[in-house]
Amino acid sequence: MWRRVASVFTLLAPSRSSVLNKVPHNLKFLEVFATEVMTPTEDGVLSKVKTPFITFVLGGPGSGKGTQCLKIVESFGFTHLSAGDLLRKETSTNAKFCDMINDTIKEGGIVPSELTVKLIQGAIDSSENYKFLIDGFPRSEENRSAFEKITGAEPNIVLFFDCPEEEMVRRVLSRNEGRLDDNIDTMKKRLKTFTALSLPVINYYSEKGKLLKINAVGTEDEVFEQVRPVFAKYEKEIR
Ligand code: ADP
Ligand code: C5P
Ligand code: MG
Repeated sequence: MWRRVASVFTLLAPSRSSVLNKVPHNLKFLEVFATEVMTPTEDGVLSKVKTPFITFVLGGPGSGKGTQCLKIVESFGFTHLSAGDLLRKETSTNAKFCDMINDTIKEGGIVPSELTVKLIQGAIDSSENYKFLIDGFPRSEENRSAFEKITGAEPNIVLFFDCPEEEMVRRVLSRNEGRLDDNIDTMKKRLKTFTALSLPVINYYSEKGKLLKINAVGTEDEVFEQVRPVFAKYEKEIR
């Protein structure tokens, strides 16, 4: 019988009771896919727990991360957590941070990592799933180190959607979802942020041998045909 570990998130200290603490450290790329571990319950009895399987989904603004995540969800049963969506949702429920988040998004900047990590960890801990796509995170070295420090976890796989700037600009300007940041002025700033702060994280995972680079040019289905085998290869383990 599967048992999920409930957790309470603590902002400043590593939350040792989080389900994320079940992710083994320092695993080589694809060494483990949703492993089972034995964990003591409150009454001291050992029970099986599935460790979370974490995929970071990276790429510039408009590269198609969200679109491909929906396809992975449909085909492989992952839970999709977009950092941008979590931050936008927070603006309607958290008056304290609303202006700061909106201003940062409008300026194409990056929201302080502790807040974003808190939102991601909260979403993971309140999910019954164990397979997660964390989309648009980490967007900076600070994001990356805060996630590792706060959760004690590392991603199992990192997908990178590689897309030329002109194509990203075209897609963002025709997205038409009423977003504060889908305009040419903010887009220029987002591209600068991507080059200065996000590319170093992508290089970091490449050097670690965890990065899977996907050519984001082509129809949505053509791009997904590159993504599918990544997950299909491990379907048995993640089902
Ligand atoms: P991201 O999450 O990386 O910012 P989205 O998935 O929201 O990107 O895609 C940005 C826009 O481009 C959306 O309007 C989406 O419908 C469109 N789009 C996504 N993938 C493709 C593709 N392969 N070709 C053309 N347009 C795409
Ligand atoms: O990924 P998405 O395009 O939805 O992100 C929108 C904005 O949300 C980013 O440009 C950035 O301002 C903010 N964001 C952030 N930190 C993240 C993800 C998104 O500050 N890790
Ligand atoms: Mg998106």
